[in-house]
Amino acid sequence: MLLIIYFICEQQVLIMNRIVILASGSGSNAENIIKYFNNNKSVSVTQVLSNKKDAKVLERAKRLKISNSYFNRDDFSKSDKILELLKEHADYVILAGFLWKIPESIINAFPNKIINIHPALLPKFGGKGMYGMHVHNAVVENEEKESGITIHYVNENYDEGAIIFQEKFKVLPSDTADDVANKVHKLEYEYFPKVIEQVISENG
Ligand code: GAR
Repeated sequence: MLLIIYFICEQQVLIMNRIVILASGSGSNAENIIKYFNNNKSVSVTQVLSNKKDAKVLERAKRLKISNSYFNRDDFSKSDKILELLKEHADYVILAGFLWKIPESIINAFPNKIINIHPALLPKFGGKGMYGMHVHNAVVENEEKESGITIHYVNENYDEGAIIFQEKFKVLPSDTADDVANKVHKLEYEYFPKVIEQVISENG
């Protein structure tokens, strides 16, 4: 009997939640996530995929010895190539600065398992074309008093999935868009991996 209980416990301990990261740019969040889960017993980053051949995120993944590859629009939206790859390698799909809309077939295959980070307080400054410095420029131009980060599930519309977590900071009148970007990145590095970990642990 004790032996059976031991084996059941061992099985639970050994369940590994696999993350595939999709990113289009520099990949500083991807690197932060990879490092955070390095040697984690229940979460592992298995792949980094990018829609940009020369994206810095692919170099980072290579340096960190994470399997990485590039895909084009046809692989992503017109065939099942990436869907099949994700089914094989991912329990969760993390968007870390990924700029293409996720096809419905992938959303349906990973219900509540695709998580995006957005560099503003959604629903403000979201939607098509609102990414990276475009967001921070708009925040400064609009003379916002605060901005922040939003971590949310991904649905079929840009930046409209259910919000999991938000954190704010004050935007000072003297802040430039670069200052805002730095404040955003600081919060992203602090919270994104922790929120991913929390979601995974709540799902058991
Ligand atoms: C991050 O700030 C992320 O929130 C943003 O792109 C940046 C990527 O930085 N994502 C979006 O704007 C999505 N709409 P990184 O490549 O250094 O991680």
